[in-house]
Amino acid sequence: MFPEIQRTLVTRQQIAERIKSLALEIARDLEADLEKDGHTALDEDRVVIIPVMTGAMIFVADLIRELPMKLSLGLVAVSSYPGASVRSKGALLASEMPKNLAGKHIIVLDDILDSGQTLAMVKKLILEQGPASLRLGVMLDKQTNRAVDIEVDYVGFEIPDEFVVGYGLDYDGYYRNHPEIAVLDASALPAR
Ligand code: IMP
Ligand code: MG
Repeated sequence: MFPEIQRTLVTRQQIAERIKSLALEIARDLEADLEKDGHTALDEDRVVIIPVMTGAMIFVADLIRELPMKLSLGLVAVSSYPGASVRSKGALLASEMPKNLAGKHIIVLDDILDSGQTLAMVKKLILEQGPASLRLGVMLDKQTNRAVDIEVDYVGFEIPDEFVVGYGLDYDGYYRNHPEIAVLDASALPAR
């Protein structure tokens, strides 16, 4: 679709298969949480999925359709790579935080874990509300030096320290609609 896309790291089929297995893991954990509270996954409105916009949009759209339970969505927008940059400039909250998370079981989902600043910030803000449980998941875990220490509970794929686009991930706002996870031709990127 885009001639400047040089190399595919994760194919559509690999993504689709991994989404199914991740959803099974997440559903199992949530069902166990709800059971501990004396409820079942189908009757209780206690699960909130929080996608970090905009990158997690496609990942979350695919994943939640594999989660057979009552859940709601609470969006949070974070900006970390303003414009045409390929290195994190630190995480900035760009929306209000979802409210009424106290006592809920929360899963925060992002497209990729890079420096860790985005998820560390969102995690801290959610914990302030007193959720019943909080877990973090990412489609991609970039093997790089983290700026902050952070543990995630669910990882789709580990990838090398390269700038990737597609399946929700952008470069300067574009390529989110590319259906695979791919590396751009270096000449399409500014010098690092
Ligand atoms: P962190 O705060 O450095 O962990 O960065 C996470 C955010 O940076 C993600 O939500 C992405 O939006 C963005 N990001 C990190 N690496 C990439 C990449 O390789 N391609 C596109 N966006 C990325
Ligand atoms: Mg992001």
